[in-house]
Amino acid sequence: MNSFLILLSAISFFSIPVSSQLDEFTYNGFNDPKINISLSGVAQIDKNGILQLTNETRRLIGHSFFPSPLEFKNSTNGTVFSFSTCFAFVIVPEYPRLGGHGLAFTISSSQDFKSALPSQYLGLLNSSDVGNNSNHLFAVEFDTVQDFEFGDINDNHVGIDVNSLASNKSAAAAYFTDDSAKHDLNLKSGKPILAWIEYDSITSVLNVTLSPSSTKPRLPILSYQMDLSPIIEETMYVGFSASTGLLASSHYVLGWSFKMNGDANSLNLGSLPSIPGPEKKNKVAIITGSVLASVFVLTSIILAFFMVKKIKNADKIEEWEHEIGPHRYSYQELKQATRGFKDSELLGFGGFGRVYKGTLRNPRTEVAVKRISHESRQGIREFVSEISSIGRLRHRNLVQLLGWCRRGADLLLVYDFMPNGSLDKFLFDNPKSVLNWEQRFKIIKGVASGLLYLHEGYEQIVLHRDVKASNVLLDTELNGRVGDFGLARLYDHGSNPSTTRVVGTMGYLAPELPRTGRATTGSDVFAFGALLLEVACGRRPIEHKAGPEELVLVDWVWDNWREGTIFNVVDQRLNSEFDKNEVLMLLKLGLMCSNNVPSARPSMRQVVSYMEGETEMSNILTAPGGNHDGGFGGDGGFDDYLHSYASSSFEKTSSYTVTASGDNISISTSPLSLINSSREAR
Ligand SMILES: *[C@@H]1O[C@H](CO)[C@@H](O)[C@H](O)[C@H]1NC(C)=O
Ligand SMILES: *[C@@H]1O[C@H](CO)[C@@H](O)[C@H](O)[C@H]1NC(C)=O
Ligand SMILES: *[C@@H]1O[C@H](CO)[C@@H](O)[C@H](O)[C@H]1NC(C)=O
Ligand SMILES: *[C@@H]1O[C@H](CO)[C@@H](O)[C@H](O)[C@H]1NC(C)=O
Ligand SMILES: *[C@@H]1O[C@H](CO)[C@@H](O)[C@H](O)[C@H]1NC(C)=O
Ligand SMILES: *[C@@H]1O[C@H](CO)[C@@H](O)[C@H](O)[C@H]1NC(C)=O
Ligand SMILES: *[C@@H]1O[C@H](CO)[C@@H](O)[C@H](O)[C@H]1NC(C)=O
Ligand SMILES: *[C@@H]1O[C@H](CO)[C@@H](O)[C@H](O)[C@H]1NC(C)=O
Repeated sequence: MNSFLILLSAISFFSIPVSSQLDEFTYNGFNDPKINISLSGVAQIDKNGILQLTNETRRLIGHSFFPSPLEFKNSTNGTVFSFSTCFAFVIVPEYPRLGGHGLAFTISSSQDFKSALPSQYLGLLNSSDVGNNSNHLFAVEFDTVQDFEFGDINDNHVGIDVNSLASNKSAAAAYFTDDSAKHDLNLKSGKPILAWIEYDSITSVLNVTLSPSSTKPRLPILSYQMDLSPIIEETMYVGFSASTGLLASSHYVLGWSFKMNGDANSLNLGSLPSIPGPEKKNKVAIITGSVLASVFVLTSIILAFFMVKKIKNADKIEEWEHEIGPHRYSYQELKQATRGFKDSELLGFGGFGRVYKGTLRNPRTEVAVKRISHESRQGIREFVSEISSIGRLRHRNLVQLLGWCRRGADLLLVYDFMPNGSLDKFLFDNPKSVLNWEQRFKIIKGVASGLLYLHEGYEQIVLHRDVKASNVLLDTELNGRVGDFGLARLYDHGSNPSTTRVVGTMGYLAPELPRTGRATTGSDVFAFGALLLEVACGRRPIEHKAGPEELVLVDWVWDNWREGTIFNVVDQRLNSEFDKNEVLMLLKLGLMCSNNVPSARPSMRQVVSYMEGETEMSNILTAPGGNHDGGFGGDGGFDDYLHSYASSSFEKTSSYTVTASGDNISISTSPLSLINSSREAR
């Protein structure tokens, strides 16, 4: 039987020059008209016969698959066949060292990836199906961006992915030479790279081998033992997927061979089509240079004329701004996108400025543009230097920062557009529909994992400093997404160095903040606790109009907890339709996070662990403090502060100055009190 099959494939191999027998094919370039390959997204075969999956435009997806599914399993006993594939690819980044996101060799049960996302999802999955075992997706990723959400090891790696983009095993891109020496390999060098992916069904070992030349190294860069049978179905599609994100690269496949139950034909880099390199472009530039020079003189005269006219409107870019990275939008682009910052496009007033809805062209994307005016240029400059790191933060529960622009004292930040607006509006502003318990629980869980990522998931701790309901935005699926992270830093920079300003919002502000003037992960947890209670109770952390005993939400919840009437605090609009265990858990957690003593609060990691049911919660809670226990640590500062708020007069006290606009407050601590508090701490 076996020998018959081999004979059969041998016959077909010799009879068709571009072999296209069902379980074996070899493409030395893709320009042969006999080649039948399916393309979707922006993928195309260019005039040189190169399969181009993406170009250097942001947020693109390209797919290409062998058009018919291949039989991957022995129908008699269900074992996955051995297979091997070899392909040559080139990644040309947008900027010499900056490009994204990556390319993946894919084995999937369908070739329909319409609901998949670009960026870190590589055009394969989306935020809701990532990790789902019913995806039946196997991929080997060649990833050029480090995504912390998926635990990527670096921004130049190869990984084996099963139903997810968190790799089961990954390795920095490299290759071995015959003397077993390992050499680094830059995936986005713009030069061709050969890759071999081989699976042996007897040992269940999958190998991935890379090389910058046509000879296959003896040693693979990745070798991973796993049984593919739960992932692979009887028939599967094979092909490639690539995506771009904030950073973009052109992803090309020059040639591809595949064989079931045997070694795929080897490819020779020399006989594959090659992409026009930058050198060629330069030559052309030199030849046409002289012609251009004369045109240039003429053009510059015309340009100069227009420049003088436009100089008032000019979006003057200062030297330092060039160093920030590539996501600088032009002012004109954003002005156009928001129709000249028209009032009709206004989405709301954030704590830091106005937010407009915008529509970018090319690719057409809906965005939210936040316009911040800052009194200090130096402040903006220092803040902008952090934009590159804020822009690298990626998590499904964060509102993604897409880019920025500065013009004079105005800073414009461009974010993903969140069609459902803020949680605040959904809770209080006569919402279209009342959020049910399940939705609320999901939102809170999302916010918790977003904050955990900020605190622990990134290379440095990122403090939010202004967690509150109006900074939680809801996406199409009503997932909670944390917005405005890192923005409060703006108020640290460029202010008088002799004072430290604390920015926060009444009711969410940890009591130690006015004293120490130093935000910590603990102060974010405090604010998260207030948010938690707010969502469960449907009331603001401090209600202006409520009776005196209900002034502070956390105290009211604590009173009811002590009295054994805890379910009385739950939002009446839920009509008692909620999961009692979940409600109880969240309320207890809210009280724990609201503790006036920072060390008594859980960390975000613990919070998430409680919510996931990984850690059992104790039924014994300590009083959060506040008005009942005579303040925190016995010094009563926060009480005074609350009371002064209650009588709606912010007064200058000896230790700190409070200024307020609406619910947003800003506290300046004088250097004297900072010295005092650090002495206290010792
Ligand atoms: C990249 O591809 C997109 C979609 O096909 C297209 O709109 C855009 O013009 C292309 N960009 C370049 C630089 O070729
Ligand atoms: C390509 O292959 C698919 C699937 O085998 C088939 O439906 C389609 O007609 C083929 N197209 C061409 C142009 O041969
Ligand atoms: C499938 O498995 C059966 C039972 O082990 C074996 O007899 C048969 O040769 C296998 N078929 C293929 C195509 O490998
Ligand atoms: C299935 O058949 C193949 C031979 O075709 C054999 O190598 C493999 O061990 C068999 N698997 C099982 C689970 O019987
Ligand atoms: C994610 O993909 C699945 C199918 O792959 C789809 O059912 C779901 O609607 C998608 N979710 C989003 C948010 O697009
Ligand atoms: C996985 O996907 C299937 C089918 O799309 C869906 O029914 C199931 O709920 C998903 N499981 C999880 C845990 O999301
Ligand atoms: C690894 O692979 C298995 C399936 O073989 C899967 O269940 C698991 O979640 C994968 N991911 C990681 C990160 O180990
Ligand atoms: C995988 O690589 C190892 C060497 O690390 C080798 O022994 C094994 O035969 C290889 N397996 C396949 C399927 O290529």
